[in-house]
Amino acid sequence: MLTKPDTATSETAKDAETLIEVADLQVHFPLRGGLFNRDAGAVKAVDGVSFSLNKGEVLGLVGESGSGKTTLGRTLLGLNRATGGSIRYRGRELAGLKESDLRPLRRKLQMVFQDPHASLNPSMDIATAVGHPLQIHGLVPDPVERRAKVAETLERVGLSPAELFMDKFPSDLSGGQKQRAVMARAIIAGPELLVADEPISMLDMSVRAKILQLFLDLKRDLDLTYVYVTHDLASAKFFCDRIAIMYLGRVVEIGPTEEIFANPRHPYTKALLGAIPDPEKVGVPRDLPRGEIPDAAAPPLGCSFHPRCPVAVAGCGWEGRDLGALLERHWLAEGEDVRVADTALFGRPVELTAPGIRQLSLTPGRGHEAAAIISLLDRVREKTAEDPFWRGVKTIEARDGKAHVEFAEGTDPRLKLVSNTTAPIQAACHLVD
Ligand SMILES: Nc1ncnc2c1ncn2[C@@H]1O[C@H](COP(=O)(O)OP(=O)(O)OP(=O)(O)O)[C@@H](O)[C@H]1O
Ligand code: SF4
Ligand SMILES: [Mg+2]
Repeated sequence: MLTKPDTATSETAKDAETLIEVADLQVHFPLRGGLFNRDAGAVKAVDGVSFSLNKGEVLGLVGESGSGKTTLGRTLLGLNRATGGSIRYRGRELAGLKESDLRPLRRKLQMVFQDPHASLNPSMDIATAVGHPLQIHGLVPDPVERRAKVAETLERVGLSPAELFMDKFPSDLSGGQKQRAVMARAIIAGPELLVADEPISMLDMSVRAKILQLFLDLKRDLDLTYVYVTHDLASAKFFCDRIAIMYLGRVVEIGPTEEIFANPRHPYTKALLGAIPDPEKVGVPRDLPRGEIPDAAAPPLGCSFHPRCPVAVAGCGWEGRDLGALLERHWLAEGEDVRVADTALFGRPVELTAPGIRQLSLTPGRGHEAAAIISLLDRVREKTAEDPFWRGVKTIEARDGKAHVEFAEGTDPRLKLVSNTTAPIQAACHLVD
């Protein structure tokens, strides 16, 4: 049975001590262009994230693959470079620090990765690997003392008796034992903040709960603060005091775990919670929001969740690509013959796939007229009348030999305070007040 110690949520906001303060953080990775196009844009892995983390807290970063969780976690520790914004650790700015200035802080800021096997050098014995941070930070120069400190730390993480593990190599250990060794290495130099990136997802089910329990025991004993990165809402529910839901480089909702689960505000959070498998109903399909996560190099206009959002409204940022996606869904349902006949109506339908086009001027294909495109759109509208897409369409008309589709103007919702009854809850959605 897992036991969760009392945590920072029981403290009043006034008592809490801020450890990390992140403001408008951006981590953009430049895309490599071709010979003639060096500026090919950027993947906005983290795009304007702000939050603060109190000492002793466990903050979960939750979201689907590619939402920027790992990049955010790594950037907090200086393992990725921020391209904009600020990260203050105990008031000191970390973003933009030189590697040589970051190095002394590294012992206070540690990371535990998903794959314990890849985290350990296969040719380094456990005692050397776990003692390595002491050596590189010059904390315990004497090898005998260092070995004693390693032994004590191994015992603390449950690799006991330590002497049995000191001279072993990673390949001699089970997955759970390797992750314990990784944790020993992470805590040996006395860190304050630990970013744990999916630390149990590669472990056998049977050891996952034990490793999470170890995290909690260490937090209590060593006064640690955690950022816990995960896809898994069930473990986040148990483990975290607060949860930040991430989508395409943004935090779309953040608040106390209990509140997020009891009363999710953002449509994406609702969809994620609806997708948690029910242990009572084995085999029931997961109900994730429709469609794929968009490309972070060319995010949707307005609210980046709008192409998948079941309740999107006119002002959510509709664009030409959304019509392309709707037609694809229509053709998938209607079959190949309909697709072939319909696509012949369009000349160069690049506007249906290019990003950011709010006013479409669709040229008809050879031998067809704009009116044929309009009547296709009417037919599709009849069959998909309930689709939120149609809420964003302002006008459809034939003019100057082309079919024109204009979308309502959309805006990008920013995080705003939606409730402050127990602790602040923020969400980024036009429908949330
Ligand atoms: N070094 C890099 N160079 C270019 N793009 C990157 C780099 N690292 C991450 N990305 C991109 O940034 C985005 C966010 O990636 P990240 O790994 O942070 O997501 P994640 O939420 O951790 O995903 P997962 O759940 O799959 O681990 C993705 O589009 C990814 O392809
Ligand atoms: S702003 Fe809200 S309603 Fe609009 S698409 Fe985004 S999540 Fe959905
Ligand atoms: Mg990741």
